[in-house]
Amino acid sequence: MTWMVTGGAGYIGSHIVDAFVSRGESVLVYDSMSSGYETRIRYLEKKHRATIPIVRADIRDCEKFENSCNQFNISGVVHAAALKSVRESFEIPEEYMDVNVRGTKNILDISISLGIRKFIFSSTAAVYGNPKHSLPVSESEVCSPVSPYGETKYLAEKLVESCYKDFGLHGVNLRYFNVIGACAPELADVMGENLLPLLLSKIKNGLPLEVFGSDYPTQDGTCVRDYVDVRDVARAHLLAATTLNVLPARMNIGTGVGESVLDVINNLSAVMGMNLEIVMKGRRQGDPAFLCADPTMAAKELGFLTQYSLRESIESVRSLLR
Ligand SMILES: NC(=O)c1ccc[n+]([C@@H]2O[C@H](COP(=O)([O-])OP(=O)(O)OC[C@H]3O[C@@H](n4cnc5c(N)ncnc54)[C@H](O)[C@@H]3O)[C@@H](O)[C@H]2O)c1
Repeated sequence: MTWMVTGGAGYIGSHIVDAFVSRGESVLVYDSMSSGYETRIRYLEKKHRATIPIVRADIRDCEKFENSCNQFNISGVVHAAALKSVRESFEIPEEYMDVNVRGTKNILDISISLGIRKFIFSSTAAVYGNPKHSLPVSESEVCSPVSPYGETKYLAEKLVESCYKDFGLHGVNLRYFNVIGACAPELADVMGENLLPLLLSKIKNGLPLEVFGSDYPTQDGTCVRDYVDVRDVARAHLLAATTLNVLPARMNIGTGVGESVLDVINNLSAVMGMNLEIVMKGRRQGDPAFLCADPTMAAKELGFLTQYSLRESIESVRSLLR
């Protein structure tokens, strides 16, 4: 079986490729390289002494996608390609709709027409928006995205789900929470929008660490999130890809443990063996106080339990500061 990983040269996609190739699966990377790096795949080829072909193309290019599926005899798709910046999605919402929704529809239609049976979609906790309670969210929570990014991922989920229901496609929408860590510096998140890369770039530039909001109703007043290691996220895909069970349409991928911004900074401080300067700022619009996964369903359906602690995830990217 050959898997196509769209967005396979991205941060999470390249970790999925790593997990699949480690298990002897054959993988094709399909990526426009808009925010991906071919060097990640070259690193993985060296690591596994394997050839990992790359098609440099857009998911909106139907002809290219179809030809690639035929040429490489693809029988399963992991769809991780997307635009993923919450901030940017407010600036260019049409482009987010085009890539994240129309692009997903294109590759779903082609996958079905070619008889591809498995399709796993990278979704996000952003589909939940700002839950009005401080309890872990389960998959039955009402979705109410608060950004164009979250909205496009939610619409894409719906398209995927209708194909599970109406066309016999198998798979699952995996809703990742805050993804963190790296299996090697070569594959690390370098976008600088998520908390850890942001903190690392401040430290690298000798700047104080900004904390947005210290008066939330949480244990220390700062926002609480569920930080899940990218190596665990990648393993969840492998479990979803190889199970023979019919899966529920959507599943949270998180640890079930909430950590505050100050928890993350304290762990970073401990890992680096130094005190880090912090500057408290006001709340940012749209940030929920608490967003944490109820991971019960993934444990039950996939036997998925996370293996990496927050400290281990931070240690995995420590070398980026050198
Ligand atoms: N990073 C997170 O914390 C997080 C959390 C939840 C969900 N996700 C989802 O996980 C997926 C991967 O995110 P990431 O953090 O690895 O981002 P990333 O930007 O590193 O990876 C996305 C990849 O998709 C490619 N891509 C973008 N537009 C494309 C297009 N039109 N055609 C083909 N390829 C295209 C990019 O070049 C890149 O390699 C996304 O779907 C994102 O929505 C990420």
